[in-house]
Amino acid sequence: MSGILDISQQDADNFSLGTIKAKHRFMESGLFEDDALATLIEEYPADCMSIHTTTPDPDGVETWRHGSMGGRTGAEVIEAVRHGQLWINLQHMEDVAPRYHNLVARCFDEINRLNPKFKHMRHNTGLLISSPRSRVLYHSDISPVILAHVRGRKRLWLYPDSEEFISNKSREQVVLKETEEEIPYTEDYDKHAQVFDLMPGDLLSWKMQAPHRVDNLDGLNVSVTTAYYTPAAMKQYGVVYGNGAMRRLFGMDPKSIDTKGIAALAKCALAVIVRKAGLLEGNQRVFKTTFEVDPKQELGYVEFEGHRAKA
Ligand SMILES: [Fe+2]
Repeated sequence: MSGILDISQQDADNFSLGTIKAKHRFMESGLFEDDALATLIEEYPADCMSIHTTTPDPDGVETWRHGSMGGRTGAEVIEAVRHGQLWINLQHMEDVAPRYHNLVARCFDEINRLNPKFKHMRHNTGLLISSPRSRVLYHSDISPVILAHVRGRKRLWLYPDSEEFISNKSREQVVLKETEEEIPYTEDYDKHAQVFDLMPGDLLSWKMQAPHRVDNLDGLNVSVTTAYYTPAAMKQYGVVYGNGAMRRLFGMDPKSIDTKGIAALAKCALAVIVRKAGLLEGNQRVFKTTFEVDPKQELGYVEFEGHRAKA
């Protein structure tokens, strides 16, 4: 396989700064067929794999839930995802499954061939396998993200990266991992969204922390996502983290997320100190497992009694 990524010079120059759409050829690797995915799931370390669904909470708000494989084989998990309402994320492929991450690494190489100044680091590559009708709720990711779509069809709604669509407080909650990256949303926002219908071979990247949501349209959906940082992204992370620390530890009300100037540097320095000391880790979300995969069920899973957390 040659020419893994088809990207324009202009998009390579703007990579990570705005919305970029390019073409990839990951599916030619043979790594995304059912058998390959089943083996991958079966052998994947549990602590790097997460299984989700969404259900309405008592207030009717659609909410993330976390599940487990429940001793199922990889093929059974694929079967459950194919007809159910599930979403599986295999993370840290750069360590666990480098053959998959290498596809992304080759994309970065191609971008760097066109744009040698583009610096990227701290890659975290995940494989998302999700049901034909499943959805990813409105959320913001902590770092810049590349989405390479490989199987099925999905619609991604991308919203402006502004205070109106993600408040600074929400941004801090995401960066401090106090929420599961979900943030307040109303359907009115959709008027302002860019909509992308993604087919196999499409690669999309957008501005760091811009809110988005995803509706799968049909077929078993398989995508590779890579979270990464650039020097500018590290600075934005530091400023937002610093704002969160000022609000939580000192009762201040920082409003700016500007990454230029002395104040930004001070916030980044504060972020390093607070992170190192673990001062805000007590606020981090705790995952509870409330269901397990069961391919015999219509939704592909069975809930634990009363949605209790598994000990
Ligand atoms: Fe996302």
